Amino acid sequence: MTRPAFATWLSDTNDVTQTFLAAGQIPGLINLAGGLPDPVTWPVDDLSKLAAKAVANHPAEALAYAPIDGLPILRDLIAARFSVPGLTLTRDNVLITTGGMQALDLIGKALLEQGSLVATQSPAYLGAFDAWRPRLPRYRAMILEADDFDPVQTLAEAQFAYTVPNFSNPSGRLVSLAQRQALVGAAHRTGTWLVEDDPYGTLYYDGAPLPRMLTLSGQQGGHPYDGPVIYLGTLSKELAPGFRIGWVIAAPEMIAALVTAKQGSDMSTSGLCQRIAHDAISTGLTDRVLPGILDLYRTRRDALCAAMAAHLSDLFDWEVPSGGMFVWASARDSRLNTDDLLQVAMAHGVCVSPSSVFDPEGLNRRSIRVNFTLNDPETMIEGTRRLAVAAREVLSREV
Ligand SMILES: Cc1ncc(COP(=O)(O)O)c(C=O)c1O
Repeated sequence: MTRPAFATWLSDTNDVTQTFLAAGQIPGLINLAGGLPDPVTWPVDDLSKLAAKAVANHPAEALAYAPIDGLPILRDLIAARFSVPGLTLTRDNVLITTGGMQALDLIGKALLEQGSLVATQSPAYLGAFDAWRPRLPRYRAMILEADDFDPVQTLAEAQFAYTVPNFSNPSGRLVSLAQRQALVGAAHRTGTWLVEDDPYGTLYYDGAPLPRMLTLSGQQGGHPYDGPVIYLGTLSKELAPGFRIGWVIAAPEMIAALVTAKQGSDMSTSGLCQRIAHDAISTGLTDRVLPGILDLYRTRRDALCAAMAAHLSDLFDWEVPSGGMFVWASARDSRLNTDDLLQVAMAHGVCVSPSSVFDPEGLNRRSIRVNFTLNDPETMIEGTRRLAVAAREVLSREV
């Protein structure tokens, strides 16, 4: 018996995300690889009450199939929350998705043909590559800080541009105001869609938040909003990832295309989770938990960077990120291949993300992404110590 072959793109994928999620199950392994929030930040009692109330008081919303585009009350709430002077949003600008991850998948479904060009920050989020891999696109790296980066030419040639302006996953970088303005200007000039993926937009530890590209774009006209930015938000880092609640804010024309794509995907996002999300935002729960999350993660960022300074400063260079969940560190010695490092580090009981998975060509083997939100300081100190031992072992083999 010969079974039909699996689709070709499957042979060109990787199981890194599965490995990282499974790493949590390996006893004694210190997981500095994932992008996971610490469960202590979840307001469990408040959420239990909201969940019970959602089922008891709103069974028609919570337990029926929800509308494909989302519960109108939640779409209205998101529209109001993101409307600012110069940017008017209505529910026609909003689609509720099953996590930010589904939004990436739907954008691929709606915009990509085989061989389409995606311009992306580099390095970029592994999950976006995963979402778009079945569509077989091509990628072009946008090095925003390069002197010769030409946003108009880059966007003109692409089907869309993909950015994570706030504390990018994996690099932790903040896209500057000037770079945001340049990208938005180029998107308006060329008409090319500009994806602003923003799961870390609330996680600023130092300084005031920069304006969203969505807001900058709204200031260029169109009320309600009908510009080129496709903004992606999520409750995963602000409240809890288990709800799988995300949202897209975009021109009504784009929302309509994504709704058609979603119809054949999951038909609707859980009404129960949407109702809980609505109540968590509208009763101020998300605003109340945020200061505690920021304090915890700021302390942990500082603890990780201090531990890295103690154990890794002769092996890696990095910048302290001003928000988000990750430190991006690049090996000082070009012989330190970080794919090899991951294997050796796992044997030493610590796991980090190698740079190759954040490069569409898989060529960058010199950096690592280190997470600081999941573990307490003592665990991170031990994790960086183990990582240093592993890095020296890899280098000793190269001599
Ligand atoms: C840049 C980026 N986009 C999207 C997501 C997806 O998040 P979720 O599906 O949990 O909303 C993540 C998750 O870590 C991310 O880092």
